[in-house]
Amino acid sequence: MLTTISKLSTHEGEKVRLGAWLYNKRSSGKILFLQLRDGTGFIQGVLLKKQVEPAVWEQAKELPQESSLYVEGTVRADERAPSGYELDVTGLEVIQAADEYPIALKEHGVEFLMDHRHLWIRSPRQRAILRIRAEIIRQIQDWLDREQFTLVDPPVLTPSSCEGTTNLFHTKYFDEDAYLTQSGQLYMEAAAMALGRVYSFGPTFRAEKSKTRRHLIEFWMIEPEMAFVDHDQSLQVQEGLLSHVVQAVLQNCAVELEVLGRDTAALANVKAPFPRITYDEAVELLRREGMPFEWGEDFGAPHETKIAESFDRPVFITHYPTEVKAFYMKPDPERPEVALCADLIAPEGYGEIIGGSQRIDDPKLLEQRFEEHELPLEAYGWYMDLRKYGSVPHSGFGLGLERTVAWICGLDHVRETIPFPRMLNRLYP
Ligand code: 4AD
Ligand code: MG
Repeated sequence: MLTTISKLSTHEGEKVRLGAWLYNKRSSGKILFLQLRDGTGFIQGVLLKKQVEPAVWEQAKELPQESSLYVEGTVRADERAPSGYELDVTGLEVIQAADEYPIALKEHGVEFLMDHRHLWIRSPRQRAILRIRAEIIRQIQDWLDREQFTLVDPPVLTPSSCEGTTNLFHTKYFDEDAYLTQSGQLYMEAAAMALGRVYSFGPTFRAEKSKTRRHLIEFWMIEPEMAFVDHDQSLQVQEGLLSHVVQAVLQNCAVELEVLGRDTAALANVKAPFPRITYDEAVELLRREGMPFEWGEDFGAPHETKIAESFDRPVFITHYPTEVKAFYMKPDPERPEVALCADLIAPEGYGEIIGGSQRIDDPKLLEQRFEEHELPLEAYGWYMDLRKYGSVPHSGFGLGLERTVAWICGLDHVRETIPFPRMLNRLYP
């Protein structure tokens, strides 16, 4: 049975056998230093010429990067090693001597790396990001499960839009028209009326012609939806969830954050409650900071970055003009020109990571909104039913996974937050 690098600390002084790839090597006369990786970690193997058959030594000396191996050796504690251990290699079996590896250990351009994404994910940085992504997902689900949300899976192929009709991915569904889902929300509203507190976690699609560091064509969203919960209570759920996730990642992924060189001091502050400002206050803040802004417009990335600079943790911007937001958002009864909604803006220029709102529960108003937004009522008959049969106040939100990963990892671009990003002009690999 093979051991893994992650478990070597429990095998000090013992002989072990690993399956591994050769990440890098260095030689010094009669010693070869083999940097080995097996997916669970990295370790240096030390191979002495006199320890192995001459043929094995000759082969090892010439081995290309990313060759696959079975390695036998004795685990030795070494405080100079990053993992605290080294392996004194006693046997080496080459599974495959690799072809010349395209991602040599030097700087490469982003497009080249993206073309080789299937190999790039083997690098320590990319591995660290994917591990943190997995931890974020796990912590989100743990927290929601503990708070008694039920996981419900909405469909990916849908007959209608949720977030406007301009960025829908169209496909044929036999003789009908269908669209890839932009958001599971409308289905989650149905699920909330059946199960109370629910959430979905799945891929969503936006045919957006935006080429920014925050936009993907295919991204993953966590969408909680809650019956008998108003806008304000929903914000408490959002800040509770996000502070849990950030603190758990700080605790469980210290090694990975270190690989990324993340400044963790900025994350340590991320604790509930988060500050809240209204859209009106945000507009004033921008003007005070010398950024001209018309009331009624939506914020762009530079505005969000400027607003976030005034806070040391994520900030909720609430009560946006009803006009710039989605059709389903409930207007503030005191002031119907603004909606009971909030975007959560991450610090350090990462922008909106959550969008959420209380939903319209009045059937007449909802019908009026379908007309105003020129949405075909017949496609939403089932959604209207939710307001006919026991309509209740309810709220929900969507947390964008990739933007959250980019922020927690401190990355320049969302393209590194997902194993195989789908972007404008990129469908390969
Ligand atoms: O603000 P959005 O569009 O909200 C919704 O889709 C609601 N139906 C969610 C809900 O209430 N259930 O998207 C939610 C989040 C954004 O805050 C952002 O983090 C992320 O999804 N997002 C994107 N992430 C990457 N690339 C894109 N093109 C994104 N569009 C939205
Ligand atoms: Mg939004």
